[in-house]
Amino acid sequence: MSQKIGFIGGGQMAEALIKGIIASGLYKEENILVAEPNSFRRDHLESNYAVKAYYSNLPIFENCKNIILAVKPQTMKTLLEECRERVQIQHILISIAAGLPISFYIDTLGKPETKVVRVMPNTPALVLEGASALSRNRNVSDSELHEAEEIFMAVGEVVILDETHLDAVTGLSGSGPAYVFSFVEALIDAGVKSGLTRAVSEKLALQTVSGSVKLLRESGEHPAALRGMVTSPGGTAITALHVLEKVGFHGIIMDIVESAVNRSKQLGEAQ
Ligand SMILES: NC(=O)c1ccc[n+]([C@@H]2O[C@H](COP(=O)([O-])OP(=O)(O)OC[C@H]3O[C@@H](n4cnc5c(N)ncnc54)[C@H](OP(=O)(O)O)[C@@H]3O)[C@@H](O)[C@H]2O)c1
Repeated sequence: MSQKIGFIGGGQMAEALIKGIIASGLYKEENILVAEPNSFRRDHLESNYAVKAYYSNLPIFENCKNIILAVKPQTMKTLLEECRERVQIQHILISIAAGLPISFYIDTLGKPETKVVRVMPNTPALVLEGASALSRNRNVSDSELHEAEEIFMAVGEVVILDETHLDAVTGLSGSGPAYVFSFVEALIDAGVKSGLTRAVSEKLALQTVSGSVKLLRESGEHPAALRGMVTSPGGTAITALHVLEKVGFHGIIMDIVESAVNRSKQLGEAQ
């Protein structure tokens, strides 16, 4: 693509996206522009990815249609106020800031015609295995949304949803890595408690989780069907699952996701 893409904020998430879009060939290095106040980050991005990094965000607004807002949510209001005059009708603001509704961008800019795409990515995007949900306001056309979709497809899977579903996404995939990390940590500790070294337990736990996900994906089977295949009559797995069900495992997972969804709603309402 000869079109240029701009990033405002050159932190962890911006770097993951830059890595992904270069690897996928979606944009050439010289067509990726980053505005970042930290000179160490600018040097890092320029030397590792051959992108163009600037202190000011002016070159981004002057040269790019698709602009990814990759600053922390608490910095967003100041940023929008600073660049209010620079945001024009041709720009598509694609924000990855957690929790900020599309109305926040419109209200802060005071420009109802602004095109905004709100994205809820998750941390595995840092290793190009993210899960992102995108929603847009009515100013963004189908083809503009598709361009935004392609950017996030470079760092994993994408779903397009109405903004009303983004709290649910935050509870499931946004916060999901935290649940998975906790599960894996517990599995490792369980192996250690049963006499394995931590290194062996870690290796087996990680491969068990990633291998099980691969099996789920490649077989296309329902999780319950695959679980049935590893539970032989009177065997070890069914004995362990009995314990899991006695503590209400399914209910606990549904409760934790629901609590994260409710918290996401609360945080959004506080903006
Ligand atoms: N990390 C994740 O996995 C993840 C997952 C989902 C969503 N997100 C969202 O992604 C966004 C970025 O997160 P991150 O982890 O990449 O944060 P980060 O590493 O802190 O990156 C933000 C960068 O933006 C820079 N910055 C601050 N104000 C700026 C301005 N006015 N103009 C240009 N750059 C500015 C910061 O510089 P200074 O450090 O000098 O302030 C920093 O380098 C957040 O809104 C977060 O909610 C992140």
